[in-house]
Amino acid sequence: MSQHALSFTDLELAALRKRAYTMLDEKRIPHVAGCEEEAVCLAERWGEVPSVAAAAAILHDCTKRLSYKEQLALVKKYGISCDDALLASPKLLHAVTGAAVAEAEFHMPGEICSAIRWHTTGKPEMTLLEKIIYLADYVEPTRDFPGLEKLRKSAYDDLDSALALGLAMSLEEISRGGSEPYIDSILASQYYHAERNSHAIS
Ligand SMILES: [Fe+2]
Ligand SMILES: [Fe+2]
Repeated sequence: MSQHALSFTDLELAALRKRAYTMLDEKRIPHVAGCEEEAVCLAERWGEVPSVAAAAAILHDCTKRLSYKEQLALVKKYGISCDDALLASPKLLHAVTGAAVAEAEFHMPGEICSAIRWHTTGKPEMTLLEKIIYLADYVEPTRDFPGLEKLRKSAYDDLDSALALGLAMSLEEISRGGSEPYIDSILASQYYHAERNSHAIS
């Protein structure tokens, strides 16, 4: 088990769900509930505190509904430092504004805010909780895309291999859509491919 002192009671999680769900489009609630379910299963598999993974999952998309203008207002309000690529992307911004809102409005500790911060792009050297939220968001039960079952199985067999696979799939999808991938995703992909290769030869 990890060395967390942090955990949440069922009542605390219920209160968190109730408040966080009011911030979501109704159509996104099944995704967030599915992400929580998958995050708890992954936490049980890999030795994270399930209620901590649940709290991060409940809040991970808490600013997703906001317009680009509203996202930028939150960046300003919370003094979040963003590079130009991040500022130009509403899709990426919801991760950084979500983390800021989780901290300022829900008083979540740093490890949970950080898992929210990196759930969209990933990054090298992620914590166990960051890995779990990245993958739970990707493979939760309402998702449906080619390669999903392979990725889900991998998430329960070997986390770093699953990250390598998930990041590669994500970069492929971004380039298919004609967009430039964000630098953190590229660095994360390189890092977890190297990690997977080092596991394979050790
Ligand atoms: Fe998200
Ligand atoms: Fe999500």
